[in-house]
Amino acid sequence: MIVDVVLGLQYGDEGKGKVTHYLANRDNYDYVLRFNGGGNAGHTIYHNGKKVITHHIPSGVLHGIPSVIGPNCVVNPKAFFAEVEELENAGIKCRHLIKIAHNCHIVTPEHIESEVKESRVGTTRTGNGPAYTAKYNRTGLMAHEVSALKDYVIDFFTEILDKPDIKILAEGAQGFGLDIDFGDYPFVTSSHVTLGGLLLCGFPPKSIRHVYGVAKVYETYVGAKKFQDYENHNLAKIADVGQEYGATTGRLRKVNYLSEETLYKSIKVNHPTHIVLNKLDILRRVNDWNVINVLGLNVDLNNEEEFCAEIRSFIQEIDPSVKIIFSASPNEV
Ligand code: IMP
Ligand code: MG
Repeated sequence: MIVDVVLGLQYGDEGKGKVTHYLANRDNYDYVLRFNGGGNAGHTIYHNGKKVITHHIPSGVLHGIPSVIGPNCVVNPKAFFAEVEELENAGIKCRHLIKIAHNCHIVTPEHIESEVKESRVGTTRTGNGPAYTAKYNRTGLMAHEVSALKDYVIDFFTEILDKPDIKILAEGAQGFGLDIDFGDYPFVTSSHVTLGGLLLCGFPPKSIRHVYGVAKVYETYVGAKKFQDYENHNLAKIADVGQEYGATTGRLRKVNYLSEETLYKSIKVNHPTHIVLNKLDILRRVNDWNVINVLGLNVDLNNEEEFCAEIRSFIQEIDPSVKIIFSASPNEV
């Protein structure tokens, strides 16, 4: 068994969907698998020149690869069926490709209802937290118990874990800073978004081959906590040029310069073999080359070359073997 994984090194919206889409097309995978989260996620992907947004459904279906919603995910059946419908209507034949792990948990209308007024954390109000609460409270409903889902449900152990020659591309939702354990609690999501979250699906550690950590060359965050330390008109400009609106809620994302501290921690915890740094094109257009160093100090670099060199040397000091890729295009890695 070989498992490659794409996961977020910041606060979600790093461009994981784009990287998964690229790898799924390039390498030969038997399955693409989502390993955490649910309809709170929003993956924006450019497929054959068209913008596609997925929430529950792993992006492997865009390339005709069977795609599994994994054991640590939660599924809202109504939103799931609407998403299948939307993809099918856009000409993406996916119904026969989507599988749901039998032991996924279900987001019920009550879960969503209980989140309607939530404002302390600034959640996506998709019932994510309440569904995970029910799971851990042992009062949850599982995918195999829902007859409407029966055409999609698979036994995750026999169909996936017990197949020795299988090759899987896993994709995470959200990012390190939103992880239930490593993020800035309570301003986090309710699932495990690090490499640990993937292992919790039952994959043996030795099956993990490539770990693609994805970041942007600046940071964005959506939620209730204070994120930017100061007013800086360039941050608003970056948000505007970078089209930083949530793919799930449409909320404007808060923007800050790239924090080396976030990167440091997420690299230490996830041990990526590759790091993709997205949206270099946006900083080019705004021509602003700030980073925030590990002491929290703003470093104003002179140009793109100095900026990339700074990030490169920072990452290589943590791990010289990591392959670093800067991307300056919404549809290419
Ligand atoms: P929840 O996951 O809906 O409970 O929201 C918890 C926090 O995670 C909030 O700050 C959300 O904005 C954030 N969040 C959840 N999913 C995503 C995502 O896919 N991208 C970015 N932020 C997210
Ligand atoms: Mg997103």
